Amino acid sequence: MKIAGVDVGERPLILAPMEDVTNPPFRKFCKRYGADWLYSEFVSADALVRSVNKSLKKLTIDETERPVTIQIYGRFIDSMVEASKIVEEAQPDFIDINFGCPVKRVAQKGAGAGMLKDVPLMVEMTRQIVNAVKIPVTAKTRLGWDCENIIIEDIAERLQDVGIQALAIHGRTRSQMYTGEADWEPIARVKNNPRIKIPILGNGDITSPQKAKEAFDKYGVDGVMIGRATIGKPWIFRQIKHYFETGELLPDLSVAEQIDIIKEQIQLSVEWIDEIRGLLHMRRHMASMFKGLPHFRDLRIRMLQAPDLRTLWQVFDEIREKYGESTIED
Ligand SMILES: Cc1cc2nc3c(=O)[nH]c(=O)nc-3n(C[C@H](O)[C@H](O)[C@H](O)COP(=O)(O)O)c2cc1C
Repeated sequence: MKIAGVDVGERPLILAPMEDVTNPPFRKFCKRYGADWLYSEFVSADALVRSVNKSLKKLTIDETERPVTIQIYGRFIDSMVEASKIVEEAQPDFIDINFGCPVKRVAQKGAGAGMLKDVPLMVEMTRQIVNAVKIPVTAKTRLGWDCENIIIEDIAERLQDVGIQALAIHGRTRSQMYTGEADWEPIARVKNNPRIKIPILGNGDITSPQKAKEAFDKYGVDGVMIGRATIGKPWIFRQIKHYFETGELLPDLSVAEQIDIIKEQIQLSVEWIDEIRGLLHMRRHMASMFKGLPHFRDLRIRMLQAPDLRTLWQVFDEIREKYGESTIED
């Protein structure tokens, strides 16, 4: 499938944007294991306009990761337009506008999912960004503010009309945050609306190859975006691809194989940030690994509390010795 001339693959599997997760080192692994299209973590438009170093660093992209999207958020049209131009200079394949972030510090201020309460502003902001840059603009949002206000069908048409090239929809409302189950029916209604011509990317609770297949087959989306299930398991993309190609489920990686991968990830993270913060950053990934290993509690605690690489490597050696060839059934 091509979007504005950019090839994003057939039935693309997309790494969802995740703050503090989808930085360049992590994206590298998702790409290696088969992600077709990568999103950066969201970047504050205001911080970009003020040239905050930490935010400028988030614009780093590598040629090998294309197609890649940089996502921005903010509540003021002026700074969002300005930030889009700054992002454009970094030459991502797409700029995405975040209209879905539910966390208080973003949404209560009117940015992210806060825009679901002011659709005219959302549409006007999008229109001005589309007009300000040459690269394609996409958006990511939720079903609506709450279950009494499921407005995604209307939003999709209006954002399409002002020129977005694809829309990613997380099948939850802002009020749901991350609770309950994602509802894919409204996503399918958007997709089946004959007025909608742009690709619709479905998102929410894709945790297995079967669920990814259902997203395409039952709900008809053009792409599937995966977030939390990639944390500690970037090879989920390969498992899904294999299932699509053969109808068979790949056995999960052995503990020893998983250790090799996480060590490499940690090393890259440390190079990207520094030893202490690079290690802290990876704890979220480690925390979601090795679930279901018998009698693992003490080793898990030591793994998650290791203060430096040397200690952590020793813990990994112990895990390898005790469980190396085991595989963990999900
Ligand atoms: C830790 C974390 C950070 C996130 N950060 C962002 C973000 O920066 N931008 C965004 O659009 N969505 C963000 N999300 C939402 C995800 O992109 C995705 O919509 C959501 O997790 C649902 O998909 P999933 O069930 O596959 O995880 C974040 C989610 C998580 C768990």
